[in-house]
Amino acid sequence: MKKKRTLTEPFKIKMVEPLTITTEEFRAKRLREVGYNPFQLHSADVFIDLLTDSGTGAMSDRQWAGMMMADESYAGARSWLKLEEVVKELTGMPHILPTHQGRAAERILYGLLGGKGKLFISNTHFDTTRANIEFTGAEAIDLLPEEAHDLERDLPFKGNLDISKARQAIVARGAANVAAVIMTITNNSSGGQPVSIANLRAARALCDEFKLLLVIDGCRVAENSYFIKHREPGFENKTYEEIARETLRLGDAFIMSAKKDGLVNIGGLLAMKDDELNRKCTNLLIISEGFTTYGGLSGRDLEAMSIGLKEVFDPDYLHYRIKSTEYLGSHLKAKGIPVVWPIGGHAVYVDAGKLYSKIPTDQYPGQVLVCDLYTLGGIRCVEVGSVMFGAYDANKKLIPAKHELIRLAIPRRVYTQSHIDYVVDVFDDILDRRDQTKGLRISYEPPFLRHFTAQFEPV
Ligand code: F0G
Repeated sequence: MKKKRTLTEPFKIKMVEPLTITTEEFRAKRLREVGYNPFQLHSADVFIDLLTDSGTGAMSDRQWAGMMMADESYAGARSWLKLEEVVKELTGMPHILPTHQGRAAERILYGLLGGKGKLFISNTHFDTTRANIEFTGAEAIDLLPEEAHDLERDLPFKGNLDISKARQAIVARGAANVAAVIMTITNNSSGGQPVSIANLRAARALCDEFKLLLVIDGCRVAENSYFIKHREPGFENKTYEEIARETLRLGDAFIMSAKKDGLVNIGGLLAMKDDELNRKCTNLLIISEGFTTYGGLSGRDLEAMSIGLKEVFDPDYLHYRIKSTEYLGSHLKAKGIPVVWPIGGHAVYVDAGKLYSKIPTDQYPGQVLVCDLYTLGGIRCVEVGSVMFGAYDANKKLIPAKHELIRLAIPRRVYTQSHIDYVVDVFDDILDRRDQTKGLRISYEPPFLRHFTAQFEPV
């Protein structure tokens, strides 16, 4: 039998960007200065930036070359026609609109579908999705299967929608009041976990039964296709691109932040089947984003996206992508760090509530871990717990989130295995010092999306 070889990056490096190496004292000082909120740090203060996988990836030489050849015409640019063709082929949908990023597509579509009294049902709404829905006065509910709430249970498709709960919600509310069913693939707010084709087909059947619109938020559709090929019977011999096409053809509309699997730094897409809905979306697009053949992007952005949407399905790239995320997660697990299992596509989620079990929920163990990773290692990541999702009751007492997690999101094609090994090493220091670390209290918070700008102080 062949011996197992180390995982290698399927690219070599042609241009480098120096990283700043700072001291622990410097980082402790910077953290105090920014009120213990790493969103407020300058990127130059950060060594390994795992805040997000969105728009932070490296483009290929082909994408950069494409940008030089792009067409910057206002209307009917060659670069747009090329992108439109790629997206039509991928989605099978006749109407394709460009937007400057994912949430612009969300604002347009959910702005039209939403409104007071309307209900949206999803496996899990991402926070910008929920915000755009709630902004219209509509309601958004997340319906994960019960077993998916068990953070450590090893299941192949923990991102699925609970179809029977969805049916109950539709019947209870009345189908006429349901604006859409949204499938987020992979399920970002639930551990980056994949969704199976079987589940998507069941969601399709449910939407057909009640005549509802099925929207696929597919910003990580290539990563989801990887999991389907390797975990769902019947897909072993299909290519990743074939699986993605089959996936997206189940939807009535498609929303994509191309900053993820589009392999670009900016860009988004909105696609749909219905002519009338397209006419309405087109009007809103022109008012707010730009003409239908650029949607707030330059020709070079469109060109880079058209190339990225092909490159992302390269089997060597996708293998490296999923396996390198899993590499970080399984090395942390082997050290005894509690991680959400199995590891998702774009990020590793650590259970800070469990790791820092001595810190009470109202002293934000996730935020403490985020701060410790920065102080000890210069690593930046984000809390996904009671800072992000907590609320208050009538007595100003915290209603905590379901879990106190942090997310280590991996930018695409940016860090090498030695960077990731370094991150794993920093967790040794976290384990060594976990009994000494102290909780945080909030000293300032805004009314919405507080995690971006909240300020903290040590308890
Ligand atoms: N949908 C999903 C599933 C997302 O993960 C995101 C962004 C969006 C929509 C919005 O797209 O940022 O281009 O406007 N997620 C980023 C993240 C911000 O860090 O997970 P956008």
